[in-house]
Amino acid sequence: MDIQFVASDAALAANAAVARIVFEGDTYAGPLAQAVAASRFTGAKGQTLDILAPQGEAAARLVLVGAGKRDGFNALGAEHAAATGYNQVKLSGLTVLRVEVSGDAELAAHAALGLRLAGYRFDKYRTKEKAEKKPSIVKAEVATGTPDAALATFGPLSALADGISFTRDLVSEPPNVLFPAEFAARVKALESLGLEVEILGEPEMTKLGMGSLLAVGQGSIRESRLAIIKWYGADDKSAQPVAFVGKGVCFDTGGISIKPAENMEDMKWDMGGAGAVSGLMHTLAGRKAKVNAIGILGLVENMPDGNAYRPGDVLTSMSGQTIEVINTDAEGRLVLADALWYCQDRFKPKFMVDLATLTGAIIIALGNDYAGCFSNNDELSANLLAAAAAENEGLWRMPLPEAYNKQIDSMIADMKNTGGRPGGSITAALFLQRYVNGLPWAHLDIASTAWSKPSSAPTSPDGATGYGVRLLNRLVQDRYEG
Ligand code: BES
Ligand code: MN
Ligand code: ZN
Repeated sequence: MDIQFVASDAALAANAAVARIVFEGDTYAGPLAQAVAASRFTGAKGQTLDILAPQGEAAARLVLVGAGKRDGFNALGAEHAAATGYNQVKLSGLTVLRVEVSGDAELAAHAALGLRLAGYRFDKYRTKEKAEKKPSIVKAEVATGTPDAALATFGPLSALADGISFTRDLVSEPPNVLFPAEFAARVKALESLGLEVEILGEPEMTKLGMGSLLAVGQGSIRESRLAIIKWYGADDKSAQPVAFVGKGVCFDTGGISIKPAENMEDMKWDMGGAGAVSGLMHTLAGRKAKVNAIGILGLVENMPDGNAYRPGDVLTSMSGQTIEVINTDAEGRLVLADALWYCQDRFKPKFMVDLATLTGAIIIALGNDYAGCFSNNDELSANLLAAAAAENEGLWRMPLPEAYNKQIDSMIADMKNTGGRPGGSITAALFLQRYVNGLPWAHLDIASTAWSKPSSAPTSPDGATGYGVRLLNRLVQDRYEG
């Protein structure tokens, strides 16, 4: 979908749909007043009134989109309203949509972002979809009093939409296509944006002593990779970077501790953390962020096999700490243990934030609208929560009680990789904390939010959400640039 900003009085194409953002208490004249009176439309947030061939209007179809109270209307409201308007007409057969937004350039730019996010679709593997099931809108116009200013404001938001789409594409790909080497290749291709990308293979990781990450991938015929993505955008290229680490389990069968068949296909998105970090780096480069940032992805496939790692195995991680494997399905923390250690050891960043679809327990604790935030640093945690709130991504702080560490004590090694069912997300986070070497660190367990469930926003089509890109981009923008 092509998106343009046009003046409010620009001529409308024939056969266009118009989405008009309106508010509670707005009054209407003539046939429009009759249409509203014949409905229950009040302008409340999320409501729509679809009027075909509206009398006295240039539009072929007019959708009134309720945005609630005019007073509280903000950037997010504009995004959601534009997305709602798009969703209402996307299958209408009309090819042009104009969204009418009153207000400043910021609101118009965010309406365009809403269109980009709602218009995302992963359809590369559909070969016989009926024409009437395909979205028909190919061109969208945001009509505003200040099209030039809106276009300028949209620049960085467009980079954000590109980053989120990149994440959604990665997360949506099937596991036979997106295995570790292919993931690494797609990230390597981001060098065209000005990022530097290094890929480590198994021999390099063996040399580094990454016995924990490598054990997870050992049962797969797909070789493991570590991707290191670097963006040096600060004026001082030697300034200490910020760092993001992602769990990239391209498919998680559970390994020898194999998962039940039901819903196992969901485990293609067990690389959602690595996907979010990739989308973030894409965004930072796309908007030329004035920051030095590192993204590290631990890319593996967790398979059962004659050569797979076993429950009972003792692994030696790059940090030197040993791990007794209790359950091969608790593999994400094993991947992150070496990725986090490598990150702090090599880059000495200001902080590390890891993202991981780490535990089913976080879904039980928080449901699908919140990810869990675990941190050893109150300031970093507060900054993350503020960034998440500003971007409307649900994030809730979880505790890291020292006492629960005993749940991961091992009889024969430094720790075991599972701590039983009580507080399963917490013991997983406590495990990770042992690999950050005291650095400010936060762990976002995004198993609850990486894949969309029905309660999601109009800007999140079913499937991969791209969760995390927005909040991390905001964190960087508000706290670490300039
Ligand atoms: N990838 C899963 C967690 C997960 C579950 C993500 C559901 C998304 C949706 C993770 O590797 C896993 O299997 N965790 C286990 C840990 C347990 C064995 C200690 C879990 O949550 O059951
Ligand atoms: Mn698992
Ligand atoms: Zn997993």
